[in-house]
Amino acid sequence: MCGIVGAITRSGAVLEGLVEGLRVLEYRGYDSCGVAVVDGGAIAIRRKVGRLSELEKLLSDGALNGARAGVGHTRWATHGKPSDENAHPHSDGSGRLALVHNGIIENYLELRRELQAEGRVFTSETDTEVLSHLVGRELARGRSLADAVRAALARVSGYYAIAVLSGGDTPHLVCARQGPPLVVGATADGAYLGSDVLALLPYTRDVVYLEDGEVAELAPGSLRLTNLAGAPIARAARRIDWDAEQASKGGFAHHMLKEIHEQPDVLARTAFDRILSTRGDVAFEHGDWSDARLRSLERVQVVACGTALHAGYVARYLIESIARLPVDLDFASEFRYRDPQLARGTMALAISQSGETADTLAALRLARQLGAWPASICNVIGSTVVRESEATILTHAGPEIGVASTKAFSAQVVASFLLAVRLGRARGVLDERAGTALLDELRRLRPRMEALLASETIEQVGAIARAHQNATGFFFLGRGLNFPIALEGALKLKEISYVHAEGYAAGEMKHGPIALISPGMPIVVVNSPGRVDEKVRSNIEQVKARGGHVICVGADQPSLALADERIATPATIEALSPVLNVIPLQLFAYHHALARGCDIDKPRNLAKSVTVE
Ligand code: M6R
Repeated sequence: MCGIVGAITRSGAVLEGLVEGLRVLEYRGYDSCGVAVVDGGAIAIRRKVGRLSELEKLLSDGALNGARAGVGHTRWATHGKPSDENAHPHSDGSGRLALVHNGIIENYLELRRELQAEGRVFTSETDTEVLSHLVGRELARGRSLADAVRAALARVSGYYAIAVLSGGDTPHLVCARQGPPLVVGATADGAYLGSDVLALLPYTRDVVYLEDGEVAELAPGSLRLTNLAGAPIARAARRIDWDAEQASKGGFAHHMLKEIHEQPDVLARTAFDRILSTRGDVAFEHGDWSDARLRSLERVQVVACGTALHAGYVARYLIESIARLPVDLDFASEFRYRDPQLARGTMALAISQSGETADTLAALRLARQLGAWPASICNVIGSTVVRESEATILTHAGPEIGVASTKAFSAQVVASFLLAVRLGRARGVLDERAGTALLDELRRLRPRMEALLASETIEQVGAIARAHQNATGFFFLGRGLNFPIALEGALKLKEISYVHAEGYAAGEMKHGPIALISPGMPIVVVNSPGRVDEKVRSNIEQVKARGGHVICVGADQPSLALADERIATPATIEALSPVLNVIPLQLFAYHHALARGCDIDKPRNLAKSVTVE
């Protein structure tokens, strides 16, 4: 939540780059934004409630165009409503510094009282403003900016990524991390920082990820890393292979639509290079995925949030049925506070697109403390989840910008399938022939995904979505492997179309929720051939008997025939049906939201990366 950027150069102007950096990071929060630059030795701050375009209007006078050092922020409010006053950067009233922050300062009330007692005046409701006063107080005591930041941070509890800019003859730029991500990079002329590597790609692909408790001092052409005590830290830069083009919309109306369309390519990137066709097996990089390691496992504990948790449900079905290994699964936010008891030989499997989700990270750390082997399925190579896992399956989905996760989900499901095969082969419960058959079917999935993205299907899904644009509530039902797909379809609709949509295990309807069905209510049922297809057909009958309007998605022909409306998906094996069935549901949510005039890539109240609890 919240995106921060910063730049300092020897000769180049920074303002335009800061604004472009904020544009790339807007997915992290977009209720207000702002920049601060050093202008003739003094700090100039411009900030505004609303989207980046509002800030751009403020900056259009060109007054700050020549600045060579600055910071920027795009906000997802935690403390204090979205307003001009609460927008970052914040200062201490001295005109000497500006500070941007992502995270939460838990003891801010106590610190605020202490600082107010000294006569310091606060102008916002944010927790962040105490940080700018703490740093300002230390600067006034004659400390350097880096020392002032260290001294200020010694007083706070909570978590943060901050960037602080000071003015004067020589501007200084310092950033620090405890929790939310922060990446820095230097070129011959400048040095840059951002919450996400995407903000640095226009300048450099060689970046350094800060770890918790680290401070970076940025100067034109150089970076200096220290810990909170000031001891130097040496860390080589890491080369990033994403490019800026991958993060653009590439001709699509929305990032979400582009990302839905990328899924066939993502399948290939996640899976194809890892398939060992002649052995019916899979090879992973990043950690010890050897037979010996995997044979020592007795259980898997999945921890994840939101869409990634839905991928975790699919992983449970796949690992239990293909690898015969018991799998437990929990919301990361519940797992971390419920005193979990882990069996010996547990793999803690964190699933996360960003690798920075606070709850997922905390759950992974807790599982590790409890003796589990920490592993992950993740999309972002240098992310905290990856760095704290002993083994990772990188999904290689490329940057996902749309707040509603789509391609990251299908990549997580595909990675889970590969993991199930690897576990099955390592544990000797899946023979070479069976492994080969599963992997061959995975290879055949790509043209089937492409078929689902052909214009006729899109038009068909769009027409159905528009026909139901005024419905006030939806059910999404599925069983077995397609139960999590029903959950995911409902989540997509809720988050971008703001309509109540409930995902439910179809067999559970008769235990209460069926009472909600009124004549004409749209009920999306996901069903493909497999061990529960007949059961789902009975559930369709039950819903229809109560007047529900059934929209069937899947490859089960009898179910499609029973339904009032239908979206057929290509046939595949049951284990892979979720990868196909989710696509029409993503498109359904997209077209529904489009018809209702919603802001698809930036839905209200949400942010892409949830780095607070
Ligand atoms: O980055 P992560 O995969 O850890 O994020 C987890 C959830 O916050 C995320 O999947 C969220 O539910 C998406 N907005 C869903 O579209």
